[in-house]
Amino acid sequence: MSEVVERWGSRRAFIIAVTGAAVGLGNIWRFPWMVGENGGSVFLLLYVAFVLLLGLPVMVAEILIGRAGRRTPMQALTFLACEAGGSRHWRLLGLLGGITLFLILSFYAVVSGWSLEYLVDAFSGDFASRSPEEIGAAFDAFLASPGRVIFNQTLFMVLTMAVVAFGVGSGLERLNNLLMPLLYLLLLVLVGYAATTTGFGTALNWLFWPDPRAISFMVVLNAMGHAFFTLAVGAGALMAYGAYMPEGQSVPRAVVTVALLDILVALLAGVAIFSIVFSQGMDPASGPGLMFVTLPVAFSQLPGGTLWLGSFFVLLLIATWTSSINLAEPMVAMLHSAGLHRVTSALLIGIGVWLVGIPSALSFSWLSEVQPISDMTFFDLATTVPTDILLPIGGLLIAFFAVWVMDAQRAVQALGSNERFFILWRQVTRWVAIPLLILVLMGAMF
Ligand code: PHE
Ligand code: NA
Repeated sequence: MSEVVERWGSRRAFIIAVTGAAVGLGNIWRFPWMVGENGGSVFLLLYVAFVLLLGLPVMVAEILIGRAGRRTPMQALTFLACEAGGSRHWRLLGLLGGITLFLILSFYAVVSGWSLEYLVDAFSGDFASRSPEEIGAAFDAFLASPGRVIFNQTLFMVLTMAVVAFGVGSGLERLNNLLMPLLYLLLLVLVGYAATTTGFGTALNWLFWPDPRAISFMVVLNAMGHAFFTLAVGAGALMAYGAYMPEGQSVPRAVVTVALLDILVALLAGVAIFSIVFSQGMDPASGPGLMFVTLPVAFSQLPGGTLWLGSFFVLLLIATWTSSINLAEPMVAMLHSAGLHRVTSALLIGIGVWLVGIPSALSFSWLSEVQPISDMTFFDLATTVPTDILLPIGGLLIAFFAVWVMDAQRAVQALGSNERFFILWRQVTRWVAIPLLILVLMGAMF
């Protein structure tokens, strides 16, 4: 288990890769769905607070461990633990992360498949002439057809694993970087359109004017899980990327840039989507289909809507692709470092994730009545358990490891910032982030 010698080509390349991992379905699909289901403003407020108080410190911890260890997550943890006189068993934290990533990727590929289907539909121009009801019904009909859903899921898995297997990730990252400003621009256009709709004021009010009646423990838990998910932290995915971080780059600066961008993209998507919801009299709590119904409705109202919609789904596909690569990469690296060929590792992980994803894919058709735990389908379980439970547990252990186990001198070095900032980060992690995480997780248990 020797150190890796490769580095991202530049500081920017590292930020681009982490942004690629962070910005994805979490911002554009999952965030609006969650806000809608959790009553709006209170969720949004909690989510932003959790990103700042928990997400950022844990993200720093995670990248720092990867960078200080300069190995795959399991090896980095073992190495740093042994060096500091801690237990070898910390390597199991790497395994927990791998399992979490496995489960997340299983449904991520299913939902990315939904947008693949839309990509083709959008360019064939069917949307422009349809009413919101027709668009909603067509989406439900698509979800209810097992063959089409699985076909798209499979296609997306192949796209992801091919990149990971053949290591062309950096090319895709560059493409991603080139095109993401266009995605942000399209979201801005949508928000501009949203501002002309009758639902705009209601949407802003509902999103930004906190309504304390909406708060409940579930809202708190969902907001915390989503904060981890959207930043891609808690499962070692960014630890793997941190291992290649160039010398002399500041972790905090990189992390703050990415987190702010990630929040911004989510807010743009939220404002656009809820303006449509309220102008069309739709239900904000309409679940995981929300984005897939509202955005086509919005685009179909714009001149040249077909082209807009098609472009949007192309860009969304690229955004989700770089996220799914980040989900898959650490698992493949783990198998690879255990001696398997890279292509074999990618194939094994790909097939495993694909198989486990199938029950999620069928949760809107053949398996819609199967509810293994308290009226949750396989899809519901796959989208909540890893996100709301496993990521926060992983995040807690990662944070604990970074501030209580790992050698402090190494941590200072790996942070790439000054000593004062190190102390600040350590205090916030020790006395704010960790206790807060324990508190919410305990709440979930009782
Ligand atoms: N952050 C990604 C998104 O918002 C999802 C993700 C989670 C990616 C965990 C990597 C690790 O879509
Ligand atoms: Na995100």
